[in-house]
Amino acid sequence: MPKRSCLAIVLAAGEGTRMKSAMPKVLHKVAGLPLIGHVLDAVDGMDAARIAVVVGADAEAVGAFVKTRAPNATLHEQRERLGTAHAVMAARAALAEAADDVVVLYGDAPMVNADTLKRAREAIAGGLDVAVVGFRTDNPTGYGRLVMVGPQLTAIVEEKDASKAERRIDFCNAGIVAFRGALLLPLLQAIGNDNAKREYYLTDAIALAHAAGHRVGAVEADEREAVGVNDRLQLSHAEGLFQKAMRETAMEEGATMIAPSTVWFSYDTRLGKDVVIEPNVFFGPGVTVADGVTIRANSHIEGATIASGAIIGPFARLRPGTDIGPDAHIGNFVEVKNGKIGEGAKANHLTYIGDAEIGAKTNIGAGTITANYDGFDKYRTVVGKGASIGSNTVLVAPVNVGDGANVAAGSVITRDVPADALAVARGRQEEKPGWAKKFRERRQAEKAAKKAAPKP
Ligand code: UD1
Ligand code: MG
Repeated sequence: MPKRSCLAIVLAAGEGTRMKSAMPKVLHKVAGLPLIGHVLDAVDGMDAARIAVVVGADAEAVGAFVKTRAPNATLHEQRERLGTAHAVMAARAALAEAADDVVVLYGDAPMVNADTLKRAREAIAGGLDVAVVGFRTDNPTGYGRLVMVGPQLTAIVEEKDASKAERRIDFCNAGIVAFRGALLLPLLQAIGNDNAKREYYLTDAIALAHAAGHRVGAVEADEREAVGVNDRLQLSHAEGLFQKAMRETAMEEGATMIAPSTVWFSYDTRLGKDVVIEPNVFFGPGVTVADGVTIRANSHIEGATIASGAIIGPFARLRPGTDIGPDAHIGNFVEVKNGKIGEGAKANHLTYIGDAEIGAKTNIGAGTITANYDGFDKYRTVVGKGASIGSNTVLVAPVNVGDGANVAAGSVITRDVPADALAVARGRQEEKPGWAKKFRERRQAEKAAKKAAPKP
């Protein structure tokens, strides 16, 4: 069978008033990715050749984000917000080029799943003219109800326009509709706004299609996929659902979590097998963890790659650009930013490693700091293999420490250290025998004399 062409239309022109935010609603994040990013990813997963995104006026930020996530997407402005059918019409230019399937979905429903979108398309490929994604729920309030007659969907009735009997229907519109491409424009043109909200409802296309003798049906999906975000409470609800799903996937794929509900993932966190994650760990975007890694409690990790067998934390902070080698140890209160830590290297306590490369098997003593910033530019520190950096060392970048070199504790290293050398860069120690005893005796005598003197 020849491959069917597909156009996805993502509606994102909503005002998002209830978010009470200076930022457009669809840019609020779930698991570290804007809502519309989740939708675009699902669309990508269903293999849509073309994507059209309908944005509101003054939504440059939405357009800019869409371009980073889906560079080929076209943007269409809906100046007035007159309803979902009106919004699809705003993408008329995209409809001008024929597509076998057109899938319309909403930019504020981040739980949508590529498989569901594929099933909707398969329904069209299988002979339906319109396929609506529906879900069953105990609480249908606010959703459009799917009026089914056997397998045929005859209409979608919006909450505000529904009769008492229709409101009892528990099969609802998830907000995803697939059309046989050629049908969409004529249907849109026939939609009026004679309803409670005086809006042009996309959902009216269903009754129109049915009345015209087209085949209209429903594809059932999980209730969670319909979760839309209109306010911050719903945002946190979506976040919770997403996190729960990610934790379950992580465990299914072989990670152990002692307290799963305290572990926070990003949309793109990747974990290997036999990864152990202790309580209260946060993964920001861009983290890849290989097999057999242990991440101990209270660690904060973003933009980092961690190789097999490494031990991170407790209380470690890994920032973007971090690359931890196999079996390396990053301990408590250690921060790494844009740093490469070699195989088996250790930085176990109270350290900042920024813009640096630490060689294999090197030990970084407690309290070591790379001084990488002069207030204007950042500079690199390179420490070779098998080196030993003493506690409380400051490595003033740019600086190199050679393989096998030792740096004495408390040093401030401002010049390169050759391989296998010892560098000591601190005040030389001096002893004054008996000095402390004499000092103590003099001070005690002075105190006693003061006490004995008559009060004035
Ligand atoms: C819509 C559906 C309803 C469904 C529900 C699922 C219609 C008429 N109703 O209702 O059947 O159960 O979603 O959540 O479609 N938008 C625009 N421009 C507009 C209007 C809306 O871009 O002029 C966008 C919004 O940003 C949003 C989406 O379309 O992403 C849905 O609009 P919304 O007003 O939230 O529709 P609902 O009343 O929730
Ligand atoms: Mg809505």
